[in-house]
Amino acid sequence: MEHYDATTYGDAIAHIYDDWYESYDPAAIDALAELARGGPALELGIGTGRIALPLQNKGVMVHGIEASEKMAARLQAKPGGYRIPITLGDFGAVPVTGKFPLIYVVFNTLFALLTQEEQIQCFQNVARHLTPDGVFVTETFMPDMKRFQHDQNISLAAMDDGYLRIDVSKHDPVQQLIYSQHVAWTESGARFYPVRLRYIWPSELDLMARLAGLKLTQRWSDWNKSPFTRDSVKLISLFSRA
Ligand SMILES: C[S@@+](CC[C@H](N)C(=O)[O-])C[C@H]1O[C@@H](n2cnc3c(N)ncnc32)[C@H](O)[C@@H]1O
Repeated sequence: MEHYDATTYGDAIAHIYDDWYESYDPAAIDALAELARGGPALELGIGTGRIALPLQNKGVMVHGIEASEKMAARLQAKPGGYRIPITLGDFGAVPVTGKFPLIYVVFNTLFALLTQEEQIQCFQNVARHLTPDGVFVTETFMPDMKRFQHDQNISLAAMDDGYLRIDVSKHDPVQQLIYSQHVAWTESGARFYPVRLRYIWPSELDLMARLAGLKLTQRWSDWNKSPFTRDSVKLISLFSRA
């Protein structure tokens, strides 16, 4: 693909995003509501509002940052969506005013920033928008090199009568980049949904936080707050002021 920027993924996938990705783990909504402690929350890469809307229904005022106008339009068309302010722009810059007791970025969305420098700057910008006792929550997958053979991976994502979806990825272990295409086939042909990610190792994540004056306070392997272990496939990390 010649051109890929912060809007590419969302603009391509917005029309089917909510069909592919079901409602979010209710335990995530409970944990985030608890962490907001009655205050407003800021979601980085708010998308179609899978997390923001149920969180708002629990009484948390949520503000979102989103690059894709098409994703934001989907959110705003949903019941209650008009009550969620959305800032269109790059979440790495955190282009909002005010401070929040909770800032969160879930579903691996932090990895949508494609260089280490952009990810470090995101932590630094987040730190400027946290209240003194504020919490920054990241949910990311644990990088798994076993997925790749010769730095490539093909996996089946969904299959039904007359429908097939596969994920095809190329891996650059030096830049920690994964270049993927979700490919969906129906009887009328194939459609491509590009996605690029720069994964972050847990120790690197903690170092990014330190560079921003934050420190890791808790790390879970799921939203039920199970401890993170060497076998965990995801990490939910909580950072506060050092
Ligand atoms: C995987 S989706 C997650 C959406 C939502 N958080 C959820 O879990 O359903 C990632 C979202 O981040 C947005 N995004 C990606 N890079 C971005 C950037 N640099 N700035 C703002 N939004 C971005 C995409 O358009 C997309 O809506």
